Amino acid sequence: MAFYIGSPAPDFSAETTFGPLQFHAWAGSQWVIFFSHPKDFTPVCTTELAAVARLADALQQRNAKAIAISVDSVADHHRWIADIEGTQGIAPNFPIIGDPNRTISRLYDLIPPDAPDSFTVRSVLFIDPARKVRAIITYPASTGRNFDELLRVLDSLQLTDNHKVATPANWKDGEEVVIVPSLTDPEEIARRFPKGHTVLRPWLRLTPQPNR
Ligand code: BEZ
Repeated sequence: MAFYIGSPAPDFSAETTFGPLQFHAWAGSQWVIFFSHPKDFTPVCTTELAAVARLADALQQRNAKAIAISVDSVADHHRWIADIEGTQGIAPNFPIIGDPNRTISRLYDLIPPDAPDSFTVRSVLFIDPARKVRAIITYPASTGRNFDELLRVLDSLQLTDNHKVATPANWKDGEEVVIVPSLTDPEEIARRFPKGHTVLRPWLRLTPQPNR
């Protein structure tokens, strides 16, 4: 199954480092950062899992939680966790799914057709509380992800779900945003954006972030 923005996020049962779980029940009413990594006991993945562990507070503030997957077994994950903690000073504080049979990796299209079957690609799926895939970021195995970008995307998704705005290039939480072009009623604009707005073009209008 191919995954796109707006695809439903299928449910699955999994063995994880936190014990067995049912994905939708585990996700509850939270956003989920579901990320795959190619392989246990590899250097880039080791730094990535530690980087996500360091985001625990930031994710909690955003009503979000992380879950990782690779095609290795849970027993391998547990052995690797000791090395992550030993080398990075922090252990993963989120479940890591063991998927040696590739069942969940295939369900979520995490093994590209031209990749070795033994590698899940370095992907991140943002899944909202309605269990829809809202964004997908995919990197090659040789490039470790920028996990600050994950928080930035999550902030943008949550902001733009609640306000008629979009976030411009390199936007960070607290910075100016753009008013969506479909909003043209002057009264509604004034009501929604009481701090005012700047018109650079009729279709390019900037306003302070409305929830700040
Ligand atoms: C790594 O995580 O370091 C890695 C994984 C697969 C291929 C290359 C690097």
